[in-house]
Amino acid sequence: MKIVLASDHAGFPLKKEVIGALKEIKASFEDLGCHSENSVDYPDFASQVARKVSAGEAERGILLCGTGVGMAITANKFKGVRAAAIGDLFTAKASREHNDLNVLCLGGRVVKPVVAREIVKTFLQTPFAGGRHEKRVEKIKKIEDKNCP
Ligand code: RB5
Repeated sequence: MKIVLASDHAGFPLKKEVIGALKEIKASFEDLGCHSENSVDYPDFASQVARKVSAGEAERGILLCGTGVGMAITANKFKGVRAAAIGDLFTAKASREHNDLNVLCLGGRVVKPVVAREIVKTFLQTPFAGGRHEKRVEKIKKIEDKNCP
């Protein structure tokens, strides 16, 4: 599975933990920046990751900013992207099983490193449950087609 990830300055320290977790599970990933704690603008990084997921060039994206919120708002502007800021393991699992989440957003100022590592593994290793959830995700796609042609 191809994974793309990026952060702004506020997410950069936690991104190092996330990269550690990705290496631990031998995931194939590409880091699209940023590369320091110098101030940058999160929409520039969210759009790089979301564009690749939207285009099918990557199956999953991971984005980190201070709260995860700005990244999620930006990523959700791209067709086919289902992004959310996640801070606990229950939501990490449910968002894969129920919502087929394809872009995980983490708050570097909120989520503890040990929790972030587990969230990342859960995000990558939990399959979409399909069934009754399938038709709901299909409804999201229809809403997107109608409102964002
Ligand atoms: C940067 O200060 C901060 O606003 C950003 O990382 C993020 O939390 C926005 O949602």
